[in-house]
Amino acid sequence: MRDQHDERETMTITRAAHDVTDLGLAGEGVRRVEWAEREMPVLRSIRERFAQERPLDGLRIGACLHVTTETANLMRTLQAGGAEVVLAASNPLSTQDDVAAALVSEYGIPVHARRGEDRDTYYAHLNSVADSLPQLTMDDGCDLVSLLHQERASQVKDVLAGTEETTTGVIRLRAMAADGALGYPVIAVNEAQTKHLFDNRYGTGQSTLDGILRATNLLIAGRNVVIAGYGWVGRGIAMRMAGHGGHVTIVEVDPIRALEALMDGYQVMTAGDAAAWGDLFITATGNVNVFRREHFEAMKDGAVMANSGHFDAELDLQALRQMAEGHVREVRNNVQEFDIGGKRLHLIAEGRLVNLGAAEGHPAAVMDMSFANQALAAEYVVKHHGELEKRVYGVPASMDAEVARLKLLSFGIDIEPMTAEQAEYVASWKHGT
Ligand SMILES: NC(=O)c1ccc[n+]([C@@H]2O[C@H](COP(=O)([O-])OP(=O)(O)OC[C@H]3O[C@@H](n4cnc5c(N)ncnc54)[C@H](O)[C@@H]3O)[C@@H](O)[C@H]2O)c1
Repeated sequence: MRDQHDERETMTITRAAHDVTDLGLAGEGVRRVEWAEREMPVLRSIRERFAQERPLDGLRIGACLHVTTETANLMRTLQAGGAEVVLAASNPLSTQDDVAAALVSEYGIPVHARRGEDRDTYYAHLNSVADSLPQLTMDDGCDLVSLLHQERASQVKDVLAGTEETTTGVIRLRAMAADGALGYPVIAVNEAQTKHLFDNRYGTGQSTLDGILRATNLLIAGRNVVIAGYGWVGRGIAMRMAGHGGHVTIVEVDPIRALEALMDGYQVMTAGDAAAWGDLFITATGNVNVFRREHFEAMKDGAVMANSGHFDAELDLQALRQMAEGHVREVRNNVQEFDIGGKRLHLIAEGRLVNLGAAEGHPAAVMDMSFANQALAAEYVVKHHGELEKRVYGVPASMDAEVARLKLLSFGIDIEPMTAEQAEYVASWKHGT
């Protein structure tokens, strides 16, 4: 790693070393990063080991992740392992400016991210990360990988591998691999069971509710809640909305997921039927225009919409804006009201990830596992990149099990070991009735 690093010294880095909103916010950022760290025992144990073993020594990591307290702890872990990390946001609205400031001035990690940045700034920031000539990309939504492949293709050959955090990113990467366009191997961290079973379900479930409540202070009890998508994220949101007394309806395109939702006790409807029924609409599909003009026309006065899927494409915002003909105003922090001929429809966090736009994202205790997988995936890449092909890999099962084991340990929980007889029994095909 060192040799490649030295070569870079001769290259001209034209962009600023960092770009954050206000370095004066660093003190508050540090307090919050330290608070999150208390809830991240698995990542902390990896950081302590990394500090001893330095498995990432000299590795340049370009990260495009939500700039939150939990991400800050991941950056510190990678840094402890010897990596040189540069970070940009993976969403224009998810950056916590105090955390960005703390990373720069207290932890010495270059960050290019400002909450509320426009599209051009967002991409300028991604380019700044690319300027650091990463050997490993750590993405949440595949925007950095996509930028490198589409606009900075000459750099792709120097990337050893990447990691990807979320479902939408993995889908994009698989499409690239199928097209023969993927220039280096990527580990799909989202596919670790210790990631999606917990982060997507319990993390997004709780934090989506949190974002909606912080933005609106709505009473969920007794309300008709429509959730589009019954994947890991949708399941978690449905569980939490029902737990608060909401009447939950699921909109799905997959018959198996729809059947599962039905047998989990929810109603299942088409988007068309749900539009007139719902009070609160939440999208979590990874798809586009799930609710659109015809649905907005059918919605009740006062309906509230939010998105928890990766991109702000799940609600047809262009149609919504056209229908409101300029009658749009901010009625609360993070809530826009669209007046459509006297009927008011409400949108939280501009249709971007509501849990990050209107709240703080997932609780640290759940990101502990997701980011433990990220850190271990980086270590795995250093050891194994020579054996990997240019395709999308899952997380090794042993790594997944290790993260679960460490998490249980942090709760002080032992699990039952199999007896030798049981191990022999389940491994044998000879036993029968
Ligand atoms: N907010 C967050 O912090 C957060 C966290 C994790 C994942 N995500 C994102 O949330 C989205 C969903 O992730 P997931 O892990 O649940 O994915 P998933 O693939 O498990 O589930 C998505 C579900 O949406 C359904 N769907 C697709 N198009 C639909 C449509 N038009 N109408 C209704 N249902 C439709 C699919 O059939 C599937 O069951 C992704 O974009 C992912 O990247 C967000």
